[in-house]
Amino acid sequence: MFSHVDGYLRHIMADCTGKRSGNVADYIPELAAVDPDGYGLSLCVHDGHMYSHGDSSVEFTIQSISKPLTYAMAISRLGNAMVDEKIGVEPSGEAFNEISVDDRRRPKNPMINAGAILAASLLLPPVTEIDEATVTKVFGEVLDFYSACAGRRLTLDEAVYASEKATGSRNRAIGYMLDSFGALDTNPDAALDLYYRQCSIRVTTDDLAAIGSTIANGGLNPRTGRMVFNQEVAQRLLSVMTTCGMYDGAGDWVTGVGLPAKSGVGGGILAVLPGQLGIGVYSPRLDEHGNSVRGVETCRHLSTDLGLHMFNVTRESRVTIRSVYDLDGVEVSGDWTELERGFLRTCRDRVRVYELQGDLTFAGAESALRRLETDMDDLSVAIVEISRIGVIDPVARTMLLSAKRTLDERGRKAMLVDPDNVVRTSVKRHRNDAIAPNLNVPEDLLGFDPTLPHVHSTMDEAIEDAEAFLLKQQSDA
Ligand code: DON
Repeated sequence: MFSHVDGYLRHIMADCTGKRSGNVADYIPELAAVDPDGYGLSLCVHDGHMYSHGDSSVEFTIQSISKPLTYAMAISRLGNAMVDEKIGVEPSGEAFNEISVDDRRRPKNPMINAGAILAASLLLPPVTEIDEATVTKVFGEVLDFYSACAGRRLTLDEAVYASEKATGSRNRAIGYMLDSFGALDTNPDAALDLYYRQCSIRVTTDDLAAIGSTIANGGLNPRTGRMVFNQEVAQRLLSVMTTCGMYDGAGDWVTGVGLPAKSGVGGGILAVLPGQLGIGVYSPRLDEHGNSVRGVETCRHLSTDLGLHMFNVTRESRVTIRSVYDLDGVEVSGDWTELERGFLRTCRDRVRVYELQGDLTFAGAESALRRLETDMDDLSVAIVEISRIGVIDPVARTMLLSAKRTLDERGRKAMLVDPDNVVRTSVKRHRNDAIAPNLNVPEDLLGFDPTLPHVHSTMDEAIEDAEAFLLKQQSDA
């Protein structure tokens, strides 16, 4: 079947094929041994489906696109705080191979060579424990991690590795400068060797798109189902890719394209639309920033033609509330006496149902709960139906549970219809979720038992529970 998406991608490639400006990188001689007209484009969407066009299976070396991946390994192993002591997160506004550090003698960010060499050094043991076998072992771990992100076994391009090692004087200057400041806790030659190897890993645009989709999915590779790193790491990657990924072309890129991205002198660009998709594009001719000319143009088209700019956001709050209604017209459900049924028929409007939909973020939860607050004086029971909720942000989950407690405290009852256990299971996950400690989630909300009170799997159960509450309220009056 000829999908619309394939049609769009073919059209965009046809528009960009004529772009032949720029030059193939040759400061690493082996990089020049490519077809300058090579051009591949891949899109990997949230569930792992891949759209592949042109030279999408042609292998090239990942080069600087490796930098966010090694950075992800370092922060996964050592945590943001420790890595931030060694590498800044500020855009440098300089070329990728600038020999510079910030006023704390740190590389300004992990996307420039200085930051990447430092990040590679963080994967290695102290200088006293380094030998040739160590670097090979750690590179094996790097290859495993990159392969997990791509969803297939990646390999090293030995010829490019040898060529880069033989011509790496500028990187050696950077590495020895860092070592002279005491910034490296390991042997500088070992860090440089690991860095040359990571840059020489072969990828295709399908691999880049899969890596991008893994980042878009908070570290979960949608093609293999494997969790490679956590949401907190993904958030950090997207941040530094947005501000630093395209070097001294970053400002124009965020304005005109608006996708967290990373380029490489091998001719690749990896771009990510958070929560939605990954893009891989390849064409070896580079602009003055070291970014693929056709690659930048292709991403610009994707952003404008398909509306992929990350700030082109839906108004979450508007789409969250699907419908609001009371039980007028809904027959009394429970096994009650005639007298009780007669009473319940008089107060159907005291039970209000709020059906929510979509991914529940802060904005959506805020608008839903403000509506609940407005209606509170007119109701005794609020049933919040979340069967159409997809992903629920931790803060949105906490807001729901806190609102439930507030209603209870005001003599009303809040009930949830949660057939997929989106809230219940997530309460347990809160305990282990790396983000939870930063949310200052009230301890008792964390302590909730998964069998939360007044949380039901069906609307009928919730309505019967609401009727029981009304009858009890009447008997207590
Ligand atoms: O260190 C270098 O110069 C190369 N291995 C990588 C540079 C690079 O990819 C810059 N990005 N566009």
